Amino acid sequence: AMSPTITCGILTVSDSCYKKEKEDTSGKELERAFRRAFPSFKVTHKDIIPDDRDKIINTLNKWVEDQCNIVLTTGGTGFSPRDVTPEATRAVIEKEAPGIAYAMITKSLAITPMAMLSRAVAGIKAQSLIVNLPGSAKGAVECFSFIQECIPHALALIT
Ligand code: MTE
Repeated sequence: AMSPTITCGILTVSDSCYKKEKEDTSGKELERAFRRAFPSFKVTHKDIIPDDRDKIINTLNKWVEDQCNIVLTTGGTGFSPRDVTPEATRAVIEKEAPGIAYAMITKSLAITPMAMLSRAVAGIKAQSLIVNLPGSAKGAVECFSFIQECIPHALALIT
């Protein structure tokens, strides 16, 4: 039998992109990188939401209910008062996957010391893997490239 298609959600968390003051280049470039890495996977969910804890939680829970296999968020992982993506993610997940966050930070530190400023969280809820990525297109795509090789095995284990 054919295995079911793996589905992905790409969630941009950004006040300025939500208000259309800024173009969502991070979501766009992340989707391009994801499709290039995993041509057989399907990007089924996409949205742009503000840096609002409850909106992030509600969207993540909805996408998990929709059985999105992997949810990548971009933005809101830094130190500014509005950055709450890691806290919202932690409120949703059942298990944390610190190795994924650790890999992103250590590999990113070889590129920029500012990698210290990302508080990104990764974890599992039901059969979904949720991974926070930084908000810049550069940071999001770099961090995705650092973790992409573990994604198929990670999803095979949780589904
Ligand atoms: N990681 C990588 N690989 N490349 C980057 O350019 N930018 C950093 C960091 N992680 C960056 C990175 C910066 S400048 C910040 S402030 C933090 O991610 C948090 O970004 P965010 O608040 O937009 O999520």
